[in-house]
Amino acid sequence: MTNQKLESLLNQMTLDEKIAQLLQLATPFFEGSDNEGQITGPLAGLKISDEVIANTGSVLGASGAKEINNIQKAHLRKNRLGIPLLFMADVIHGYKTIFPVPLAIGCSWDLKLAEKSAEIAAKEAAVSGVHVTFAPMVDLARDPRWGRVMESTGEDPYLNSQFAKAFVRGFQGNDLQNDVNRVAACVKHFAAYGAPEGGRDYNTVDMSERQLREYYLPAYKAALDEGCEMVMTAFNTVDGIPATGNKKLLRDLLRDEWKFDGVLISDWGAVKEMIPHGVAEDEAEAAEKAILAGVDIEMMTACYPNNLKQLIESGKVDEALIDEAVLRILRLKDKLGLFGNPFRGADEQQEKELVMSSGHRQAARELAAKSSVLLKNNRVLPLPKDKKIAVVGPFAQNDDILGPWSWLGSKEEAIQLYEGVQNKVASSLLVTAKGCDIGTGTEDQLNEALKAAREADFIILALGEDSEMSGEAGSRADIRLPEVQLQLVKKMKQLGKPIVAVVFNGRPLDLHGVVEDVDAVLEAWYPGTEGGNAIADILFGDVNPSGKLAMSFPYSVGQIPVYYNSFNTGRPKDAPDAQERYVSQYLDIPNEPLFPFGFGLSFTTFAYSEPQLSAGHLTPEQPLTITTEVQNTGKLAGEEIVQLYIRDLSGEVVRPVKELKGFKKVFLQPGEKVEVLFTITEEQLRYHHSNLEFTSDNGKFHAFVGPDSQDGKAIPFELIK
Ligand code: GLC
Repeated sequence: MTNQKLESLLNQMTLDEKIAQLLQLATPFFEGSDNEGQITGPLAGLKISDEVIANTGSVLGASGAKEINNIQKAHLRKNRLGIPLLFMADVIHGYKTIFPVPLAIGCSWDLKLAEKSAEIAAKEAAVSGVHVTFAPMVDLARDPRWGRVMESTGEDPYLNSQFAKAFVRGFQGNDLQNDVNRVAACVKHFAAYGAPEGGRDYNTVDMSERQLREYYLPAYKAALDEGCEMVMTAFNTVDGIPATGNKKLLRDLLRDEWKFDGVLISDWGAVKEMIPHGVAEDEAEAAEKAILAGVDIEMMTACYPNNLKQLIESGKVDEALIDEAVLRILRLKDKLGLFGNPFRGADEQQEKELVMSSGHRQAARELAAKSSVLLKNNRVLPLPKDKKIAVVGPFAQNDDILGPWSWLGSKEEAIQLYEGVQNKVASSLLVTAKGCDIGTGTEDQLNEALKAAREADFIILALGEDSEMSGEAGSRADIRLPEVQLQLVKKMKQLGKPIVAVVFNGRPLDLHGVVEDVDAVLEAWYPGTEGGNAIADILFGDVNPSGKLAMSFPYSVGQIPVYYNSFNTGRPKDAPDAQERYVSQYLDIPNEPLFPFGFGLSFTTFAYSEPQLSAGHLTPEQPLTITTEVQNTGKLAGEEIVQLYIRDLSGEVVRPVKELKGFKKVFLQPGEKVEVLFTITEEQLRYHHSNLEFTSDNGKFHAFVGPDSQDGKAIPFELIK
């Protein structure tokens, strides 16, 4: 529809109808829904009339073409102007075919496969009636105590931005109106939800605006620059004001500075939560603050429908604000073609053919293998397929490998680790036993596992976190594996056999108690529907692991936050003239993480020649190039993620010791070498100054090209403007 027609529709709406359009409810409120739908937050008793429900603008958490079409039909019968509902849901890393959790995908550094995973998720969701997904989540995360790190792509603003764009491209495609196999994306959680104090979910976020703009905002901006249609507000405060009522963040920055004119939705209950936050005395004040801040849709509370009318009549809120919010929602419905076809791509027959198709599962298997990270390997991997193998541990046969945001994913149809191993090795050579549960164990379980392992030549020890220990409201103060699992490791080690630990988890863990006692560690994350096959592909050498950490693994929880792009301090421990005592250090642990950002091993080895610069300096007009030769010096073909880091040796504010500025994946046969070239531009050297100006300075820099954030020789160059 033209803007004129949309405005004409808006002008036909009563004030009550307009206000109800700003509400989003979960499926139980709607005629035609046949199940509870997806409940992802507190279900506070909502006092809303049938009339408001008949005029509600959107639905949260409905699924399946049949149910969604039934709800839409029933709604259109009741809605005076025939305005169709928008159906939104959390399709985070797969709809029914579940891909690895986003933090795992972040470790693949594979933007093409990431985009493909979102495209497949969109296809399965769209054919099942979903119009909008609440993804990508791009919150930068430096604190693994926070349960939702699994939903992010980690600690780096550049890598997060690249993935944000890839996910938006995959979800939305480039023609939402006509490509009914795509869904609108909703980038979240705006802003800086990944920085709660103490890593405790929903807790206070407090940082300088400069820190916010330099590290936490880039990925949201990248998603919007890629055309992301929606933004979701965060639960947390930003500079003392809850994001959902934060005019400076939402109106001044998001809408006025970034020119975002799409739909802005609150997170579940976040409008009303301004009351417990302590910035609203009641729901009326919460509604006033949210609408003045520019929040278009209130999710799952009723402050808007129960208060906006009075706020308008009292003159506290201008009806024009309601009109602009409604218009944005109508415009999104129009972009999705819903006025022409309220049922869009929902098709029961196609749903049966498309959802969980073998092609989709194969894509999930490929991405899961590329998302796994080999953290240790004392030449025990890959395993032979003709030896006796014991698969022991609480994740040996465990379907809880889809992760905490896998909603419609079917655990029953997930390939568990042991099944994956059985697809590689004759059953006569295999034995399995739990050894313990996730957090508890019995003597019998342990003895059964010891008996099984004694018969084997190799032990695969499958450990990890229950998905309930991860995800939303899943913060942990102790990020080690549960004690009973660490005891199992010790008992297995006493057998004196080669042990490969495979860890299923949603966060970087303190892997002490595992890494010292085993011969190999493979980080599997929550690998999704094809997890068992993907991990077995790696364990038996059918896939050579290439994943690299998108988030640092702390040496201990006491180190947190620990991240690679930190500042040097005035007393760096590793300075040439560093004192014994008076330096920035711990007395009891190292400063370095257990495993750094960008780290990951392969079954082969790669050698890097000393990087060469095209010149000693660059100018805004004349970039530099840096080239290095990478050679596969091992016996197996493999993929290497070559990383470019830059250090600004002296800024107007302190600058990180390293910043990721580029990466390239190269696949090399044994002995093969390839020249890898990066371009260094003046734009890449810009940063937020103390006055928030985003610009570069003349000065000296170092470039590093290497396999992770720790290695690589410093190559000096200058910027001359
Ligand atoms: C949840 C999450 C958000 C999700 C929303 C709808 O509380 O914070 O990420 O999209 O509610 O399920």
